Amino acid sequence: MRVGFIGTGRIGGNLARLLVAGGDHVLLSASRLDGPKRLADELGDHATALSTTDVLAATNVVVIAVWWEAFHEIARDYGPALQGKIVIDPSNPLTEQGGTPVPLPVPDGLTSPQYQLRRLGDVRLVRTFGDRLAADLLADGLRGQDSGEHPDMRYWSDDPEAAATVVPLIRDAGFHPVDGGGLAQSKNAGQ
Ligand SMILES: NC(=O)c1ccc[n+]([C@@H]2O[C@H](COP(=O)([O-])OP(=O)(O)OC[C@H]3O[C@@H](n4cnc5c(N)ncnc54)[C@H](OP(=O)(O)O)[C@@H]3O)[C@@H](O)[C@H]2O)c1
Repeated sequence: MRVGFIGTGRIGGNLARLLVAGGDHVLLSASRLDGPKRLADELGDHATALSTTDVLAATNVVVIAVWWEAFHEIARDYGPALQGKIVIDPSNPLTEQGGTPVPLPVPDGLTSPQYQLRRLGDVRLVRTFGDRLAADLLADGLRGQDSGEHPDMRYWSDDPEAAATVVPLIRDAGFHPVDGGGLAQSKNAGQ
């Protein structure tokens, strides 16, 4: 499958590595192009660095791997281009202070992906890949791909068709997909 990325840092980068190892093609973007270009050079023929606008024009499935608070910038800058897309959301309601993650309150009693969905508008959101540290995601996925013993990866969505599109990507990344239910049931990392 062709999978777009907004954000190629720790989680986006390692998920792109796993998907390429699993046979997918990744289209990589971030706020600047230098990170995506470096990663595309590392990953070879199955990766392309593009502007976010070009990524969204080229694929209907996009991972938004930016810090939780930056979702409002993504909605502001790319809201219309995102409408109708299947969005994979690994974000946790955290900010970073002096290198330490600090929890953020999610407004209105919503779960984190319910709130991100409200920010993004008419997208088909699937929450997954956010339950472990980026280094563990890469190590667990590579082990699953190599050994055939696939660690569990939970996913949550209110859109069964979108979830059905994302499930094969969870498998490609080396994991055993586990349906966690709707977005109201979703858990953050560590829960
Ligand atoms: N790191 C982990 O272990 C971990 C584990 C589970 C879940 N998560 C979740 O994954 C998400 C990403 O975390 P991370 O640790 O991967 O962050 P990161 O390493 O700091 O990477 C953030 C990425 O987002 C891009 N970005 C930021 N603002 C942007 C914008 N307005 N438009 C386009 N791209 C933008 C950055 O691009 P530039 O460098 O070009 O600005 C960078 O590629 C967070 O929501 C976090 O809660 C992280």
